[in-house]
Amino acid sequence: MLGLKLTTDPRWANIAEGNLSEILTDHAWCEQKAATNAISLIANNSEYPDLVKALTEVAMEELQHFQMVTQLIWERGYTLGRERKDDYVGQLMKFCKKDGSRNASFIERLLFSAMIEARSCERFKLLSTNIKDPQLAKFYYDLMVSEAGHYTLFLNFARKYTVDIDVDKRWQQWLEFESVLIQSYGKKEHIHG
Ligand SMILES: [Fe+2]
Ligand SMILES: [Fe+2]
Repeated sequence: MLGLKLTTDPRWANIAEGNLSEILTDHAWCEQKAATNAISLIANNSEYPDLVKALTEVAMEELQHFQMVTQLIWERGYTLGRERKDDYVGQLMKFCKKDGSRNASFIERLLFSAMIEARSCERFKLLSTNIKDPQLAKFYYDLMVSEAGHYTLFLNFARKYTVDIDVDKRWQQWLEFESVLIQSYGKKEHIHG
């Protein structure tokens, strides 16, 4: 799915379902961080009108997702907890090449974003097919579709705006790295936990 080399053990969905208040809080902040990431990509790459337009849409969608998750939290009588540290995303950030040109950093940031969308999408799919609660199953199905669209968008912009990076080759390196990284996760009630 989405080129990912390793799928999450479905038992992770049971861990998540066993602590809905925790997974929903973590999820809400993932959406906020996705919105923030889209906004910083806009701020740093304002010379590309199609990218600015598309990422404005993405930022709004991610914030809408944040709103949907927080509504669910409050409807169910849970509390929106403090932001959770996302160790998985921190490790992906470390994998980003930081010593290249401005264009190289831009492409790397797009691939970083595509990677998070791909794994989030896979996790949402797992939740949508494993969670017994029908409202949440539908909720995660809809989000899975939306995040799959974001994944494609980030990857396509990387292909479009690269100057001298072989995007498909570099993307394969991202997928390889992620397939090793993800083996340390899948045990916690966090979206990337
Ligand atoms: Fe989202
Ligand atoms: Fe997204």
